[in-house]
Amino acid sequence: MRPARLRRAAFAAGLLVVAASLVGATAAITAATAGAPTASDAGERTDADEPVSLSHISVLPVPDVEQRALTDDICALDGVAAGLASGDDTAVIEAAGGGEMLRAAVAAGEAPCIPLDDPAHLWVVVNKTRPYNPIDYRPSGLQMPDGVRNLAQGSMRDVAAVALNDLVTAARDAGAGEIALESGFRSYRTQVQSYGSQVASRGVSGADLVSARPGYSEHQSGLTADVVACAGGCGSLDDLAATAQGEWIVEHAWEHGWIVRYESAETGTTGYVGEPWHLRYVGPDLARAYHEGGWRTLEDFFGLPAAPDYLD
Ligand code: DAL
Ligand code: ZN
Repeated sequence: MRPARLRRAAFAAGLLVVAASLVGATAAITAATAGAPTASDAGERTDADEPVSLSHISVLPVPDVEQRALTDDICALDGVAAGLASGDDTAVIEAAGGGEMLRAAVAAGEAPCIPLDDPAHLWVVVNKTRPYNPIDYRPSGLQMPDGVRNLAQGSMRDVAAVALNDLVTAARDAGAGEIALESGFRSYRTQVQSYGSQVASRGVSGADLVSARPGYSEHQSGLTADVVACAGGCGSLDDLAATAQGEWIVEHAWEHGWIVRYESAETGTTGYVGEPWHLRYVGPDLARAYHEGGWRTLEDFFGLPAAPDYLD
């Protein structure tokens, strides 16, 4: 689903140019006809001192409108190429003109240089139709986040670890309470166990609604955190949504580069029931674009097909 506000945004830049031109043309005529201050007010004699006949003007001047596509060819930009070459995703996004410009270019199919299937990047999309390649991919740079209560000694990629500390600190400083990490990076082998235990208790179709099969979990990217609320002791994943911490996450997680990846109304797109605790790090620029665009899934955000089921 593409929110209406984005359709409006798609015209915003062009409308601004038109509006600016019209304002300029209108202002010139207004000045000539309504006695607005002119250079003559400062003692300098100009044509405006003479009575002005407008009878020869039959139509407003046609504004010069510079046509500009919503998305440029971001892959042709030197900064984008340089950022990709150095592995600096933030630099890529900035060079592309920001998170919304990058998103729009990808969704329009105009950014083949942005590999949504590469788990080394912030923009990777993993779902039931987009497994890791190799299937047992393991990221480098895993570390435990500082300053976060870590219930199972979870780790994550360095950028996500720093950002989780930011999020936890901001929630605490805002008076929302403590947020703890329940599960971070999960290897392919760990997911074999997680998914297997869900199958044992729910059957395959039940398990597939709550747990990713090995090789298909966002946790394997190292960019994901399952979090819980604590007040002395910590609650369960299911408890989070009804807590102040859960409400704060809905409102503010994006400010620290995180999105709530699986919303309860989006099972038809993600293939999973709602998981208010499952936060995915996409970085501040993409998270801002996601939030401000009113997007509810990464699939829609990047113009990808819904992925409610596995292909096999
Ligand atoms: N619970 C989520 C879908 C996972 O297993 O990755
Ligand atoms: Zn999770």
